Amino acid sequence: MAPLFAQTFGNASSIHFEGQQARALLDDAHRKVALMIGARAEEIIFTSGGTEADNLAVFGAVNASGHLITTSVEHPAVLQAAGMLPSVTVVPVNGNGVVDSDDIRRAIRPSTQLISVMHVNNELGVVQPVEEIAKIARQAGVLFHCDGVQAVGKLPVKMAAVGADLYTLSAHKIYGPKGIGALYVRKGTQLRPLVYGGPHERKMRAGTENVPGAVGFAHAADWVMEHSAGEMTRQQALRVRLEEKVRAEVSGAHINGCGARRVANTSNIRFDGIDSEPLLISLDLQGFAVSSGSACSSGATEPSHVLLAIGLTREQARSSIRISLGRRNDEEQVDALAGAIVKSVARLRKLAPAYA
Ligand SMILES: Cc1ncc(COP(=O)(O)O)c(C=O)c1O
Repeated sequence: MAPLFAQTFGNASSIHFEGQQARALLDDAHRKVALMIGARAEEIIFTSGGTEADNLAVFGAVNASGHLITTSVEHPAVLQAAGMLPSVTVVPVNGNGVVDSDDIRRAIRPSTQLISVMHVNNELGVVQPVEEIAKIARQAGVLFHCDGVQAVGKLPVKMAAVGADLYTLSAHKIYGPKGIGALYVRKGTQLRPLVYGGPHERKMRAGTENVPGAVGFAHAADWVMEHSAGEMTRQQALRVRLEEKVRAEVSGAHINGCGARRVANTSNIRFDGIDSEPLLISLDLQGFAVSSGSACSSGATEPSHVLLAIGLTREQARSSIRISLGRRNDEEQVDALAGAIVKSVARLRKLAPAYA
């Protein structure tokens, strides 16, 4: 990306040589991001990130008299957007965070214009039955949007298999730059833009294109295509190792969502009698960057809406932490984290006589 801030600085919409150099890079980025999910270059609309792509799907597909169906565990980028619409059904999930596709089918009305269900939940890592939901949507003649921000790079994602009409991507979740994402828009899908202005991104997203971001996104997509399958096998083994150690050495430790199919890198663990905040701070001081709830809502005192949606009490939701493994983690680090958790939980429980 660095040369694009200084040398190849052209505007991809300019006719001159520098502009055309930038255009070629942007076109190549569309091709690579599309290839990663088995789509066509012209089906990729670059946005400022996953949030904007989710908003584009929701507001672009549902009009003032339309009805939207979504689930209780979506990212706020979908749920908050849905909250702006007059007619929405929020379908609940089971104790593992998985939605029943029959519940989605039953929620369809004549006015339903969009079903929006995420592929992988960001807090639990659980995988939703999106292929079944896509079929239900198609039979009903309703558009299907799938937020795939947490799925790409962790599952083999191909649009022909998923069957979504709209699919959200975010570069920084696959080690690309922050501030760029994309919405896959299946060829022929009718969608209204969210941002009006110039004719950029096939008239679907006005504004001078973020060429360095797109190039970084494409580079990240290249890595995913080449290495992610092997990397996920490696991370799955690390997660099993971590969860086994924690469960063996800490009483009252529960893995949230463990009864469902999960992606390899995410572990959401609840510790009886523990408040996640002091645990998180204790682990941070020992060099481990873990989260409570979703990163987007850290700092908020409200418990995670996802953990409440799977039936946890407010107290149980507040005693859960989320660990996301990554490419730079190894066995030694996982063992050190398990050890730090064992020590920190024991110390915090001693300080909380209610637990004893
Ligand atoms: C499932 C999901 N959707 C959407 C987003 C928002 O993406 P971005 O940060 O690129 O706006 C996130 C980010 O955490 C996410 O996890």
